[in-house]
Amino acid sequence: MAEREPGFVVAVAGATGAVGGVLLRVLEERNFPVRELRPLASERSAGSTVSFRNVDIEVEVARPESFENADFVFFAATGSLSKTLAPEVVKRGGIAIDKSSTWRMHDDVPLVVPEVNGDALEGHKGLIACPNCTTIGFVMALEPLRRRAGLERVVVTTLQAVSGAGRPGLEELERQQAAIREGRQAPDPETFVAQIADNVVPLCDVLGDDGYSGEETKLLHETRKILSLPDLPVSTTCVRVPVPIGHSASILVHTERALSVAEAEAALAAFPGVEVVAENGRVPTPIDVVGRDQVLVGRVRKDLHSEGLWLFQVSDNLRKGAATNAVQIAEEILRRKLLH
Ligand SMILES: NC(=O)c1ccc[n+]([C@@H]2O[C@H](COP(=O)([O-])OP(=O)(O)OC[C@H]3O[C@@H](n4cnc5c(N)ncnc54)[C@H](OP(=O)(O)O)[C@@H]3O)[C@@H](O)[C@H]2O)c1
Repeated sequence: MAEREPGFVVAVAGATGAVGGVLLRVLEERNFPVRELRPLASERSAGSTVSFRNVDIEVEVARPESFENADFVFFAATGSLSKTLAPEVVKRGGIAIDKSSTWRMHDDVPLVVPEVNGDALEGHKGLIACPNCTTIGFVMALEPLRRRAGLERVVVTTLQAVSGAGRPGLEELERQQAAIREGRQAPDPETFVAQIADNVVPLCDVLGDDGYSGEETKLLHETRKILSLPDLPVSTTCVRVPVPIGHSASILVHTERALSVAEAEAALAAFPGVEVVAENGRVPTPIDVVGRDQVLVGRVRKDLHSEGLWLFQVSDNLRKGAATNAVQIAEEILRRKLLH
């Protein structure tokens, strides 16, 4: 009998999108053991090709049969696609790693940032959720402080890149910027609720009846679930800014035991995947993280009116905020021998 080639059958649903494209690059860069790659998308992109390890592979429409014999399926498409198709992966014995918000808050679905709560993968049932792009960088900055001094309360304002809304978000910024450069009026917003070029929009996602946006609510509940702190007070404001890639967050943390700036910086610098930017007056900015997996933290300072600490955190929303975290989940499953 012919020996099976080593490696795994990997499918990417949403391979033509902002996250899916980066996911293919991350699989290549990290040398993830892929034996066969199946790029999937909607009818719109069926028949086009994506490049993987210098080979052009035809994109097919995502459907249940796409997952026969698949070991890992990354979902980077729409929530409704994940809702209908992720169970089809599990039914066929594969592992679904979902980037959408659909499954994140389900009790039997682990919501994982491997450096923070890799243990949550133990006992998984085949479906694993990857947190929101804002949540990932945020919990990467909180966890080192929590391990050192416990968490009491957090206040966060995010400044989120347009690519957080995928290709349509990037294209809307580019269209509006081009019109302004040419002296024309910027086209009306479609993806965002107000013009994003030359502007700041304090509403990401839709506004709920409680006055909080979908993004703000996700940030609260996902943070509590990942940190296993179901009552942690997290006050959130999410703002869209005209930055192509890289989400930022201004964070006020109240720890159970007061931390000095030096202690906090030492805890952050020692945490895998986090880098402290402090020397010579340097500050972390979104441009510094584009194409990188590290979460940068800087501007660590004492609050003037409490024992709290302020910090500023940035991360690449398409990499650590999405693709890299999803691939790290697959790697962690292999490391822990949790593949069914
Ligand atoms: N952007 C971020 O920073 C970020 C971060 C974390 C999580 N996410 C999540 O990741 C997912 C992808 O986001 P994105 O930013 O990459 O979006 P995007 O750039 O708009 O790409 C969407 C992808 O999904 C595919 N797709 C859409 N409808 C489909 C359908 N009915 N069947 C199969 N494929 C379909 C598209 O294929 P076509 O080419 O055929 O249209 C495209 O490949 C979303 O769930 C999003 O919430 C995004």
